[in-house]
Amino acid sequence: MKWPSHGGQPEALRESLGFPMSSDVIDFSANINPLGPPTWMKKELGKHFTELIKYPDPTYFKARKSLAFSEDLQPDQVLVTNGGAEAIFLIAKLFEGKQAIVVHPTFLEYERACFHYHLKVKDAFFSLDEEFDLPIDKMIMECKTTDVMFLCRPNNPSGTIIKEETVRRLLIEGKKHNTYIVVDEAFVDFLPGEEASLSGLLSDYENLIILRSMTKMYAIPGLRVGYILADKKIIKQAGDGQIPWSVNTLAANFIPGMVEDKLFLEKTKTWLQTELTFLREELDKLNFYMSSTHVNFYLLRDREFPMETDLLFKHLLKAGIVARHTFNFKGLDGHFLRLAVRSSHENKVLLEALKNWRAKQ
Ligand SMILES: Cc1ncc(COP(=O)(O)O)c(C=O)c1O
Repeated sequence: MKWPSHGGQPEALRESLGFPMSSDVIDFSANINPLGPPTWMKKELGKHFTELIKYPDPTYFKARKSLAFSEDLQPDQVLVTNGGAEAIFLIAKLFEGKQAIVVHPTFLEYERACFHYHLKVKDAFFSLDEEFDLPIDKMIMECKTTDVMFLCRPNNPSGTIIKEETVRRLLIEGKKHNTYIVVDEAFVDFLPGEEASLSGLLSDYENLIILRSMTKMYAIPGLRVGYILADKKIIKQAGDGQIPWSVNTLAANFIPGMVEDKLFLEKTKTWLQTELTFLREELDKLNFYMSSTHVNFYLLRDREFPMETDLLFKHLLKAGIVARHTFNFKGLDGHFLRLAVRSSHENKVLLEALKNWRAKQ
């Protein structure tokens, strides 16, 4: 069977499974904020329509200024990109032909971007328990022979966070060997607390490169908004490799409004904490493993039948629930499912389907 390579493709699944799926399936495979996009964005669409007859400002100054201001950085430390995906490829391009490490299981695009720019890629692996610890001693040793390390924090697909202290150890060692540490913070806005991001470390570590995506929090995968935060030399170099006007006018114009909408962030975090607490308790009662996620998705595995994830996936599909398979996440090999945290009602539908699965055993 041919599995789709990313989440959010229920149609592709339907085709490859040849499965009778009703059209009103609930898509738990894409980890997009169910509260979004913020309502003001829809209202403002018309306002920005007239701007479409102009090219975007090629320097995206207003967007960069608002992002820099919110991170306490300078605008020349920010590069606006066509989604987090473009940020990943622009960063890989900086290290063309050099040596990289990717820590698995993680987002697939680091490896793809590295291959695209002919980097040599070594694999490292998180510990496969609830916490997904980084193999820090091994990675510190590898600094000597590695030009760039890709970390995802919070990590997709587990939702777990590498401790700040651990990243700091890598940055210190990396500094000695000219090793850059890339931290993908695509999901950082979902974390509780103010100091969740590592952007405060940029002033001390020139070898830190942070990338972000606005896609997930603001539920705008079709708009394409991401950015890189780094030392200004890196930003200049990455920008030199970017296609002109890569970010469209609409996306650039929406950035300041999104950055300022703190209320939407707070509303999302409140929803998420309530749902996560509920899901954790209920899944535990049903004896399902749930990764120690801090964000809007998690890994799930049946503790009682850990080798039957395939059957569980199909059981959920029959109940109208699309999960994200994990066959193409190195180290997971299909033995887990990744599920999004969705609305209270939808999470209850999922739990009901899991209860039925348990009752059938
Ligand atoms: C960890 C991570 N980084 C980056 C991206 C890319 O985000 P975007 O849709 O903004 O390109 C994704 C998308 O799934 C992701 O999961």
